[in-house]
Amino acid sequence: HQVLGRHGDLAGRRVIVTAGGTQEPIDPVRYVGNRSSGKMGYNLAVEARDRGAHVILVSGPVALPPPFGVEMHLVETAMQMRDAVSDFITDADALIMSAAVADFRPTRVAEQKIKKLRTEATGQHREDEFSIDLVANPDILGELALALKGGHAGEQHTGISIPQLKRRLIRVGFAAETEHLVEHAQAKLQRKQLDLLVANDVSRTDSGFGTDTNKVLIFHADGAMEDLPVMPKTGVAAAIWDRVVPLLG
Ligand code: CTP
Ligand code: CA
Repeated sequence: HQVLGRHGDLAGRRVIVTAGGTQEPIDPVRYVGNRSSGKMGYNLAVEARDRGAHVILVSGPVALPPPFGVEMHLVETAMQMRDAVSDFITDADALIMSAAVADFRPTRVAEQKIKKLRTEATGQHREDEFSIDLVANPDILGELALALKGGHAGEQHTGISIPQLKRRLIRVGFAAETEHLVEHAQAKLQRKQLDLLVANDVSRTDSGFGTDTNKVLIFHADGAMEDLPVMPKTGVAAAIWDRVVPLLG
């Protein structure tokens, strides 16, 4: 069969791309999740494949077909995504976290479907309020930053284990913001010790969830900021890899 992109600028590289949103179960039929179509991540995976990379796509549930020539790993929850990333991290050259990871998950998952609360006699709703207890999910990029610094991810999480990274790992994060885009993006780049952070303003109609175009700002570790025009997500994917390639050792 045809070998794609074997002479591309990512030839011989192993890259991990995460995509889609994680789903944190409440009961067998419901979940807590983030809005994400997966389009940006799938475009990043396809672009890297075409440029010669071995691509590991760790994807939450999305309505997109698995791309040809990409190693797919389907996950549902943030914990599963963390474990998948952890499994492949040691010999990866780059990790792009375009997934919308749910920050919290239900503390307990009900074994059976939760029923509406009703009073037996009348069948009327007994209460108008219902609440779910949530607990924080591990921050995948955050844990990775700590682990690379030789620190500890904290007691409540087992943490990402990176026995020995074979190569310098380039880390790229995404940030979808509704306000104070620049401030939030710069803080995230710092906090997660990223090489690049791609930020988009999801309050625009031509950018963000479900759209085929994106308007992004790219923040670099050295403080540089690029304001890219509205582009198809395929073009944004190419622009991101164009900036990752020179950083690869
Ligand atoms: N991310 C992650 N693990 C999480 C949450 C987010 O690795 N548990 C990654 C995302 O995939 C993204 C980047 O971190 O690449 C920024 O995600 P974002 O949700 O914007 O940042 P948070 O640190 O969760 O901050 P907040 O949701 O409060 O804005
Ligand atoms: Ca978040």
